[in-house]
Amino acid sequence: MLDLLNYNAKTPFIHKHLLTLKDYSKQDIYYILSIALKLKQMKKINTPHQYLKDKTLGMIFQKSSTRTRVSFEVGIYQLGGTALFLSDRDIQLGRGETIEDTAKVLSRYLDGIMIRTYKQTDVEALAEYGTIPIINGLTDQFHPCQILADLMTIYEYKNTLNDLKLSYIGDGNNIANSLLIACSKLGIDIAIACPKAYKPSDEMMEYCRNHAVKNSSKILITEKPEYAIANADVVYTDVWASMGQEADYNRRINDFKGYTIGAKLFSLAKKDAIFLHCLPAHRGEEVTSDVIDGPQSVVFDQAENRLHAQKAVMTLLMSDTFKNKEVKI
Ligand code: CP
Ligand code: NVA
Repeated sequence: MLDLLNYNAKTPFIHKHLLTLKDYSKQDIYYILSIALKLKQMKKINTPHQYLKDKTLGMIFQKSSTRTRVSFEVGIYQLGGTALFLSDRDIQLGRGETIEDTAKVLSRYLDGIMIRTYKQTDVEALAEYGTIPIINGLTDQFHPCQILADLMTIYEYKNTLNDLKLSYIGDGNNIANSLLIACSKLGIDIAIACPKAYKPSDEMMEYCRNHAVKNSSKILITEKPEYAIANADVVYTDVWASMGQEADYNRRINDFKGYTIGAKLFSLAKKDAIFLHCLPAHRGEEVTSDVIDGPQSVVFDQAENRLHAQKAVMTLLMSDTFKNKEVKI
């Protein structure tokens, strides 16, 4: 029985950044979730938890956001710190200043940076040239903060992160990649259904298959949604055209015909399956209204958990109290 609220990390959490969940072990992920669950409880009963007093987080956005922007900004405020919203329309990065110079300059003012951008290599460059913690708030390749909130939500509903099957129906995108990494590390079975041309890359599959073997998780990639969803405990989807793929929208809508999660397809999952979507959703495309707005959908709890999971990430990476040691709260 996995008791995350009373989780004792056997290995210390020693990370400077959150660039991708590839860098994190199963124990690291459990530890983040345990802190997130405690911070959520503390917030609900108004227990002070100002672990980031006087700290400042810079939030660089090169793509739009509702949840990520608001949950990071509110999250650091609740932790006693401040956030700065840095749109690339306003900072010199958007006019061609290099990532290297941006990282060096911002490291002199800030205590951490959350960045949402296109290329994963840009996030890695910020980490390489800066001296402060860097948090990936979504790239074309990965969305680690989202997946931490997803795991937290699954744990809250299923009371476990073992012996579960997660079915993802849709594009083999940043969400699919990060889910694959997390499931293969945690021992969660994952079945992905997508058209052939939209599968996660061979490199990603090889990485995850190696972890899946070690952690007894099964990975299935299929073109048939009904195979992927059979007996699933968790059903997940995401938009068919991600940010930056708008020009490809019509082709994608056509290619994904038959991949909509409607009531009939959803009924093939377990009777008590939950439905997840990172949001924003396009009702009538990747999911019908009756599923996403139905009784088994937990998408708004999932969205709320972005706040708690990211507060845990910021606390662990940016707080002087927590840095590189296990702290009981
Ligand atoms: N799920 C998610 O990252 O939402 P936003 O794009 O609104 O931040
Ligand atoms: N795959 C989507 C996720 C949005 C949170 C995108 O990248 O636009």
